[in-house]
Amino acid sequence: MTEPKSYVFDAYGTLFDVHSAAAQHAAAIGERWQVLSENWRTKQLEYSWVRALAGRQVSFWQITEDALDFAIATAGGAGSQLRGELLEAYRHLQAYPEVPDVLSKLKARGAKVAILSNGDPDMLATAVGSAGLSGAFDAVMSVKEAGIFKPAQQVYQLAVDQTGASPSEISFQSSNRWDIAGASAFGFRTVWINRTSRADEYQDLASDAVVADLTGLL
Ligand code: LAC
Repeated sequence: MTEPKSYVFDAYGTLFDVHSAAAQHAAAIGERWQVLSENWRTKQLEYSWVRALAGRQVSFWQITEDALDFAIATAGGAGSQLRGELLEAYRHLQAYPEVPDVLSKLKARGAKVAILSNGDPDMLATAVGSAGLSGAFDAVMSVKEAGIFKPAQQVYQLAVDQTGASPSEISFQSSNRWDIAGASAFGFRTVWINRTSRADEYQDLASDAVVADLTGLL
């Protein structure tokens, strides 16, 4: 296998720890903070797929807020002040610890590195900056330009248009197995970042490789 020309990364869950927002406020939320965090993420994704299939456009930030409201209504344990703090924490998520080093090593090998995310452009710019990754990426691509969320195939085309590489020259990384399924259907080389040892799924849309974290790319 030749070295990929570009490494394109999903953002939320892959580079940025989506559960770090609720974890930071675990004491204030109470013992159900993990349930709240899981519901928040699950509903955020569901809302994106429903809008994509229904042909409606909505910002990722809006559905992030809506999903948190549902998670709070379901699990309880968060008033309006905490809601605001959780959203603020989501805008400034922590990157997983290996991210800066892996990005710089991939770049040192001559590869381009980029983000392709459902996140709005301003969300991604804030997250990249607050994680100390300003300047680390050759491109930060939001689905906003395509007007639909992943795994719609036109979203993955954005990465081809932006990088000038063909799908088979691009290695796409995501911790979201459904995102890997979409990227595999598009024709990218795919690496599933299986951070939590989940069972595999989507056998018809297999990943080319599975690693536990991004150091597996090196
Ligand atoms: C993203 C979400 C879906 O960054 O993880 O695209």
